[in-house]
This record gives sequence, structure tokens and C-alpha cells, in this order.
Amino acid sequence: MAGEHHFKIVTLPGDGIGPEVVGAATQLLADVAERFQVSFEFIELLVGGISIDEHGSPLLPEVVEQCAQSDAVLLGAVGGPKWDTTDPDAPRPEQGLLGLRKGLELFANLRPVRVSDALIASSPLRDERIRGADLVVVRELTGGIYFGERGRNGDVAFDTCTYSVAEIDRIARVAFEAAEVRSKRVMSVDKANVLESSRLWRETVSSVGGEYPEISLDHMLVDNAAMQLVSRPADFDVIVTENMFGDILSDEAAMIAGSIGMLASASLGAGGPGLYEPVHGSAPDIAGKGLANPLATFGSVALMLRYSLGLEEAAAAVESAIDRVLERGLRTPDLATGADGEEEAGTEQMTAAVVAAMD
Ligand code: IPM
Ligand code: MG
Repeated sequence: MAGEHHFKIVTLPGDGIGPEVVGAATQLLADVAERFQVSFEFIELLVGGISIDEHGSPLLPEVVEQCAQSDAVLLGAVGGPKWDTTDPDAPRPEQGLLGLRKGLELFANLRPVRVSDALIASSPLRDERIRGADLVVVRELTGGIYFGERGRNGDVAFDTCTYSVAEIDRIARVAFEAAEVRSKRVMSVDKANVLESSRLWRETVSSVGGEYPEISLDHMLVDNAAMQLVSRPADFDVIVTENMFGDILSDEAAMIAGSIGMLASASLGAGGPGLYEPVHGSAPDIAGKGLANPLATFGSVALMLRYSLGLEEAAAAVESAIDRVLERGLRTPDLATGADGEEEAGTEQMTAAVVAAMD
């Protein structure tokens, strides 16, 4: 549990650019601590490929245990070409992340997507389409095809998508509650014209919706949602969907925000610590070069301050520091457009600028 002023944070830098962005986040948190008179104790542990190298397994049970006893978990990224394999028996870094989500019962993944005015030109989508877009993908995170029965039978392989009413019910409630403090609209995304699990999804979300009469609920098929998301993103608000659809749609939605280097996420469960991570992944092509955009991780830090530590003022301060730095023209390579007034920055300069903008 969170003490009033002292917080135990497990950091899991992981692979690729993970250590760079988590390092940047701990610098930012050191500044938050000073400014808001709180203290953070960081416990750095292994997950993903680095854990495979060290222990032969992507996630040790004691890491899950330590996370469970913390106030919040901050994760960088897992995975990389070094550990890519099609051998079904070889350990994979991604199993570390999935094991954490399952082990900590983090069934609700919130991925907010907001267009900062300063980044409108960084998006591949046209200005008039994305202006004003502000949505959140509420992704179910511990069920569906990611965790269903799977296997191989000779030259056949299978994965199954399974959902129970209880699993759908609890994620639907997260979405309706999120909508209550936003614009009171929920779009549930499924593939109910084909999948039985989606028909149960639609039925259950509708029935939970009956308990939230002030929220308007619509349903959309996932293929159509993928199209509408880039054609009229500003019309969406809360999108609730199952695990794999949420994985895919949230990467797509990142393009509205200009770069996947901007997308933060919070994974929340039934009362234990939350896990906060940037959506971008390990980006092995730029790892170790000091070029990684730390802003998705800073956004995740803001979500952590807000949802797990109850430090709303600090969360808002981080978010407005990010906005100010972008307004001033600072751009990591993923955000750069070459326009006048932009100043190129690496991870270190971006971090220093955000810390300075906390004033
Ligand atoms: C994500 C990632 C993960 C997922 C991978 C790394 C297992 O793509 O968090 O979106 O598919 O959930
Ligand atoms: Mg993904």
C-alpha cells in the first residue's frame, strides 16, 4: 500500500530502448520527489530478454512477488531480434510481460491518445482529420486469444479466443467509469458478425451498459473501427475492446498522436499495484543510441502518479511540462518533420528539457 509520502516503485527496464526510457523516467521522478515532497524507492528487477540471458526465464516468480508488494511498477519494453525464435519450446521475452499482466491480474489496459497541437504536423494523417482527437482505448488485457488454449498437432497450429461473462463485465465497467469523467460515450469494438466470443462480448457490454443510463453505448465491428479511426478519429472517445483487437487498434491510434513514441499506458487490476509502460516496445534499431523518445514513458509516469499514487497535481505538472517542451519545438527523431522552429533532441536533452519545464 502507498504510504502517504513514500512510495516503493519496481522498475523493469527490460530490453532495447527500455533501459534508456526508464532511466529518463527515474530522473523525472527524482525531480517530482523534490518538488512535491514525496520520496520514491526504486527496486530495479529483470524482465524479458535480459532475464532470459541471466536466468533462462523471461520472468522469475520472485519478480512478480516483489511487484505485487510495490506501490506501482514501471516497465520499459521487452523483446528484440536476439530472442526471436519460432521454436515453441524456447523462452520468449514477451512471455515475461504477459506473465506479469496475468500474475498481477492487470485486466484493464488504458491507452489514452491525445493530439497535442504542437504535434499535428508529426502525424501522417491530415490536420483537419486529427485536430481535437482525444480518445482512450480500454483494452482487455488478461483474456482472449493471448491466453486461450493453444498448441500444435502435427502440421496444424491453433490458438483459441475465450471470454467469460465475468471477464467482459469487469472491463466494460472500467470503460463506462472512464466515460463518466469524459464525454459519456463508449464505443465497444468486436467482430460479432463472425465470432461467438464477440457475440458474448456485445451482449455483456450491452447489459452492463444498462446500469449506466447516462452513458451512450455504440457497437462497431473491428474492421470498420480500424477504418473509422483514421478517417474520423475525433469522433471517438472511450473505445472498449478485447485483448488482440486492442493491441492492434492502439498501435493504429498512435499515429493520430504523431508517433508511437508518444503513447502511454496504464494496466490496472482489481486493487493491486498498477503497471505503467510506454506502448512503443523495445525499438532495437535505435537501442543504445540515445535517440529514444522518452515522452511515452513520461506520460506513463503521469498516469502512475495519478492512478496508483494519488498525486494528481504532480501528474498534471508532468503532462503540462511535456506539452510546453513540444510547443517550444523540441523533437526526438520520431517526431521531427524538418519544419522551421524544430530543434532536434536525443533522450537526454528531451529529459532535461521536461525536467526544466516542470517549474
Ligand atoms: C503491447 C505489446 C505486447 C502485446 C507484446 C510485447 C506482447 O504489443 O503491449 O501492445 O501484444 O500486448
Ligand atoms: Mg502492441
